[in-house]
Amino acid sequence: MSRFYELVTEHVRTLGGYIPGKPLKQAERESGVNCIKMASNENPFGPSPLAIEAMQAVLGECNFYPDHDISELRQKIAEHHKLPPEDVLVTAGSTSLLGIISRTLLAPGLNAITSERSFVIYRIATKAAGGRLVEVPMRDDGFYLDAITSAIDPNTRIVFLANPNNPTGTLVDAAALDRFLAHIPPSVIVVLDEAYYDFAQHFAAARGVEYSHSLDYVRQARNVVVLRTFSKVHGLAGVRVGYGLGPAEMMKYFARMRTTFSVSVVAQAAALAALGDEAHIHKALENNAEQSKLLSEGISALGYRVVPTWANFLYCELGEDAASVAKRLQAEGVIIRPLGPWGAPTAIRVTVGTPEQNQTFLRAFRQVMEKAPVR
Ligand SMILES: Cc1ncc(COP(=O)(O)O)c(C=O)c1O
Repeated sequence: MSRFYELVTEHVRTLGGYIPGKPLKQAERESGVNCIKMASNENPFGPSPLAIEAMQAVLGECNFYPDHDISELRQKIAEHHKLPPEDVLVTAGSTSLLGIISRTLLAPGLNAITSERSFVIYRIATKAAGGRLVEVPMRDDGFYLDAITSAIDPNTRIVFLANPNNPTGTLVDAAALDRFLAHIPPSVIVVLDEAYYDFAQHFAAARGVEYSHSLDYVRQARNVVVLRTFSKVHGLAGVRVGYGLGPAEMMKYFARMRTTFSVSVVAQAAALAALGDEAHIHKALENNAEQSKLLSEGISALGYRVVPTWANFLYCELGEDAASVAKRLQAEGVIIRPLGPWGAPTAIRVTVGTPEQNQTFLRAFRQVMEKAPVR
């Protein structure tokens, strides 16, 4: 038995850590070639230029602690969504808010429910809070809402619903979610994780689908918390800022659980500027719509199944060990995500990149799969 085993709480002993997408520098050191990162669903065009300017402008104020109430940003987000500021809570990324929600609502004996092959942080946040995570089966690579409703018991406090889902990229449309919420008991909070909201909304408009009534649920003070982030379309993953929208009373409890001063001066300034950077958002959305199609066609043409995406990444079934494919791709200078930790050891997730990055990926992928031992 290790030295500190007895000191650590029981649920932390079995807590697995998060396995992130491989950092660029580490991959380059390992492979000895220049790499591109298509592993963590980041914005391939960099941070919002307006956010860069805003961050530079506040660097000289970093001797001061940040505004703990994040009032200016909260106000601006509230106006943006036409909600009262009391319904908005800003945190150091939505990952941090997932931890806060879990620690506020869960304890040993209580449980949260999500789908298999969904965002791995749900498992970590639930276990770290002492709760138990129930992962129900999928249907058609997406959330199977009836299975979630059936799994709810008197000890259930949270349902985590990633919409679109990471890593499969599937969508639950507004009508299906309306029906689902009608069956949720008042003892359960539904976390609607809309990290990829902008991409999904862009696709939905083009495809004639109604994506989300999430803000209406918040206005109706339903048992719902909507999660959004500045990490994706705004290009600020490295700055760590996201937010939740939900009933004011619930958000007040979550606010007590935040780490003091966790959203930095730089992060607050960046998010304020990025929120209004329509040009940067537009560029990312247009590129994603066009390039996800080309990337998907390129992979399908080689005989692999790609799940139609509503986000900025593709889920591909390879039928062979994905970790080994990821290694071979890294040797060719491309970092993607093998999905073993998601329970899909023969699948990969590829972030949609710039046109050049996607061509580089397709060239490398073709080369690597041609050399594949068996198919
Ligand atoms: C479904 C989902 N939720 C939340 C996040 C985390 O976002 P943040 O960077 O705000 O912590 C991600 C990031 O990959 C995600 O895929």
